[in-house]
Amino acid sequence: MKNILLINNKINKFDEKISISGDKSLSIRWALMSAQALGKSRAYNLLDSEDVNNSLIALKKLGVKIIKNKKFCEIFGKGLNGFSFKENTIINAQNSGTFARLILGVLARTEKNVILKGDKSLSNRDFLRVIKPLSLFGAKISSKKYKLPIKIRGTKYLRPISYEELKGSAQVKSCIMLAALNTPGTTKIKCIPSRDHTERLFKHLKLKIKIKQNHKYQIIHIEGGKQYDALNYNIPGDVSSASFFIVLTLLSKNSKLIIKNINVNKSRTGIIDILNKMNAKIKVKNKKKYKGEELADIYVKSTKNLKSIKCPKEMNSRAIDELPLIFLVCAKAKGTSYFKNIGELRHKESDRLKLSANFLKMIGVKVKSTSDSLKIFGIPELETKKNYIIKNFMKDHRIFMLSCVTALVSGGKWKIHNKNSINSSFPNFLKILKQLGANLH
Ligand code: S3P
Repeated sequence: MKNILLINNKINKFDEKISISGDKSLSIRWALMSAQALGKSRAYNLLDSEDVNNSLIALKKLGVKIIKNKKFCEIFGKGLNGFSFKENTIINAQNSGTFARLILGVLARTEKNVILKGDKSLSNRDFLRVIKPLSLFGAKISSKKYKLPIKIRGTKYLRPISYEELKGSAQVKSCIMLAALNTPGTTKIKCIPSRDHTERLFKHLKLKIKIKQNHKYQIIHIEGGKQYDALNYNIPGDVSSASFFIVLTLLSKNSKLIIKNINVNKSRTGIIDILNKMNAKIKVKNKKKYKGEELADIYVKSTKNLKSIKCPKEMNSRAIDELPLIFLVCAKAKGTSYFKNIGELRHKESDRLKLSANFLKMIGVKVKSTSDSLKIFGIPELETKKNYIIKNFMKDHRIFMLSCVTALVSGGKWKIHNKNSINSSFPNFLKILKQLGANLH
């Protein structure tokens, strides 16, 4: 059936080695940074997904030459403030919150109107979080209720700002950093730590960035206006995509998996630390440094005797995209798990807090949720024996993949809608499931 996946069987035991496609956060950042570099940048293993490909299409509309073939992608950088395009150019970020928020930071310096649009899910998401700081820089932005479509007109008179980013949002922080790059003077960001790929890229490119850490916040100083050279990159595997297979293995019987060459940047590996605290024995081996990031292979085995967790709120942003998967593990762990300060989950591709709570209830797990917390009463012997239909109205790729993992480890008959949603972040997902022996229709 078109765009629907049927799963009627649990996965049998497996013992495999897999590779995962390129990191989405890094792919989009590489494209944005390369577009403003001097010279030709080349990336291997750039994620070939809709979020990344739509970012490339948007950059092309802004006058950037891009060549992409099966082996690599090349971007011919225009230099800082070098885009060339017509007044009122329309660009479409489709489903990508990362591209939409980050490109607005770049456009703060561009003295022409650009209209930024998105798909139904992205048009529902909050942009006030970036409109506020960008307006302080001096960009002119208009929108209805701080949602897409947004019209932005940048300025050459950007002023450095001092800003507090207290949501723990890497997209907001990176948007400000990209505006700061084009702004003379020093921009200061006080923020709750979140994924730090932009900082690492800035350092690798020898841009003027200083980072101080106190017990709770990071203080980032960026001095703008420094041009940089092209950046070749071999994009490592995405830990967020790998996580579906980590959890699949953990919750299957007698299985083992090695996941090769994953970006294990500390700001992204909260899921491994959280699951290991719950008794999983996930190992990160063969660590090596690469252009400011850290890469490694991940070893995971099926685990019985998982125990609940009271998750410290400082871990949230390190596992923000993986929380729904972690909730599934809690559903099958002994004891009551608790997550607090997770309101940001409601602002993702869909309201992942509400959907996760409903999902767990649907499979027979007791939960208590508030607007920013979730309590899960685990059932170690949980089996799902009924018929389940997942409508996935917002076409949320991670909700689709979570449903597949649940079906394959718990049983029952599943009809999961919007299969194409995986094209946002992980088009190879079903192919790898089949490699592990999953029976999919
Ligand atoms: C991302 C940051 C996170 C994450 C998203 C990717 C990024 O969003 O959920 O999938 O690449 O910067 P927030 O920054 O809104 O938490």
